[in-house]
Amino acid sequence: MRLPSLYVGFIALTVCLARCGGAPTTDSSKIQAILEMKRATDHHSYSHPDEAVVTHLNWNASIDFNTRVITATATYDIETTTDAERIIFDCNNLTILSVRVDGEAVNFELGSTKPFVGQPLIFPVSGESKKVSIDYQSSPDAGALLWVDGDNPFLFTQSQAILARTWIPCQDSPGIRFTYEAHVDVPRGTMALMSATNPTVQSDDGHYDFRMEQKIPSYLLALAVGNVEFRSVGAHTGVYAVPELIEAAAYEFAEMEDLLIAAEDLYGKYAWERYDLLVLPPAFPFGGMENPRLTFATPTIIAGDRSLVSLVAHELAHSWSGNLVTNATWDDFWLNEGFTVYFEQRIMESVYGREISEMLATLSYQGLRNEVDAIMDLNPDDTHLKLHLKNRNPDDGLTAIAYDKGYLFLRRIEEVVGRATFDGFLKTYFAAHAFSVMDTNRFIDYLKSELLTTDELLAAVDMDAWIFGPGLPSNCPSVNSARIERVDLALSKWEERTMATNDLPWKDWVYQERYRFISNLNDATTPERLAELDKAWDISTTGNNEVLFTWLEQSIRSQYHPSYERLETFLVEIGRRKFLTPLYSAMVDTDQKALADAIYAKARPNYHSVSTGTMDELLGWSE
Ligand code: BES
Ligand code: ZN
Repeated sequence: MRLPSLYVGFIALTVCLARCGGAPTTDSSKIQAILEMKRATDHHSYSHPDEAVVTHLNWNASIDFNTRVITATATYDIETTTDAERIIFDCNNLTILSVRVDGEAVNFELGSTKPFVGQPLIFPVSGESKKVSIDYQSSPDAGALLWVDGDNPFLFTQSQAILARTWIPCQDSPGIRFTYEAHVDVPRGTMALMSATNPTVQSDDGHYDFRMEQKIPSYLLALAVGNVEFRSVGAHTGVYAVPELIEAAAYEFAEMEDLLIAAEDLYGKYAWERYDLLVLPPAFPFGGMENPRLTFATPTIIAGDRSLVSLVAHELAHSWSGNLVTNATWDDFWLNEGFTVYFEQRIMESVYGREISEMLATLSYQGLRNEVDAIMDLNPDDTHLKLHLKNRNPDDGLTAIAYDKGYLFLRRIEEVVGRATFDGFLKTYFAAHAFSVMDTNRFIDYLKSELLTTDELLAAVDMDAWIFGPGLPSNCPSVNSARIERVDLALSKWEERTMATNDLPWKDWVYQERYRFISNLNDATTPERLAELDKAWDISTTGNNEVLFTWLEQSIRSQYHPSYERLETFLVEIGRRKFLTPLYSAMVDTDQKALADAIYAKARPNYHSVSTGTMDELLGWSE
């Protein structure tokens, strides 16, 4: 499972936060609308949008790979109450150089740094203030940023959940939306890309301009800089990758336009004009990140056979669930991810058929069951869909609960009301709440008034058990895949030795079946038996990183040493946390901690802070 990560960016600064006077009164209807939007309290932001809130960002930045510093001015258009006295931004590890309000320099205060959330930046504004400008620099160890050195330098950001504030001072709450433009200078020979209108060729002078005309929350601010090329794969879709990977990426993601069409057929028009995908360096800590107009993706989904595109379906689905209708706080994260997994499954079913989508659901279900068991032992409340992450890292909510329990809850509703009715409901839900926020309680109200309108329907769904209860409710839908059942049968026969290694239908299996077989091998499987499998099916050289990952995990558990060289290269190159946590944990669990430490010492400099945060804690690492 994903373990709670240790906060690494904590710096005990003791600048005192001066308190302003009493809460201002509000009279404008605009502010009332904002208040409505902010009904759920976001414990992870210092901002007070009910006093003064941003509406547009103009970001002017210069990116220096030598010092690993972004020097920038963030100019925001703001709206305030008539009696506003201050505006508050979130910052973490930023150096604030100067602040202006409508062109006039003002004094600013930085409050003390708190774990996870960083510091408030506070300065005076009035009811008439229109624009604020903040000159600042990021720190070389900014939590969102990963600077990759070498012949082909690369920089990328990862802002979700609360890391945007490590590279731009912002009102870093998912309930606050703004449009943006950006003007960015980067080294010649690199292209800059953002979650905005993007170039398709490199500029001669290293200067790039961007616009994002749809309002977005700060966690969707994104920047990447590197020597990348663009290749169109459809009328509204294309891929960006380094020259060595562009061909493979264009092949792998050639079906993106089909996915987009399927998604629109399900839940309405795509709101962001283009859908492109950027293949990042392997250090990217996630599989994918739904930055609007430009999904950021790990290169580990390039398998050569398009077998891992469900990740693209997932990030694309966020263009509705998450980017259009956004969780109000990180306690409501399941509204982003549960809906997205449901939508992802529906896209996969529509494009590749029910057999494939149901195999995927079966694999996720197994992962969910394991994770529920693990979390129940640690903190049972974390198995509720509605979370309580106050004073914790929102990263703690990144478990299979939000994703797969959330998915099964929606699948249960579909089961109860019927697919056609549920689809109509979802389409209206996205349209009615486009470019705004949703919290768990408002969703419950909406569900009650629009869909579950009788006591029978309410009883059949049992919302409370799903949202506020532990584990998996008794009415959990059953997920069935005949193909996965046949794999399980083959596995038990192979383990009983009534089926020979060469008789396994490995060559006929798709990745999901291969993954199931290897991931369900008994922990006590001997290295000799793994050697048999490896010899027959050449598993160590598979191009599918999901299969390779589960094979490496089993190799650790079985102490199958011929895999260890590959294990090390895999861990040194790839920084995707979903792979790292189980692999390092397997070494720790099986008395191979020294091996884990030795590999981690080599690999750590390549990882992003999201991954080192988790691994440092897992391995008890201290510098
Ligand atoms: N938005 C998430 C990634 C994320 C969540 C980053 C919370 C930081 C905080 C993204 O859409 C996601 O879910 N990625 C998954 C892939 C997916 C197919 C389940 C991942 O990276 O594993
Ligand atoms: Zn997601």
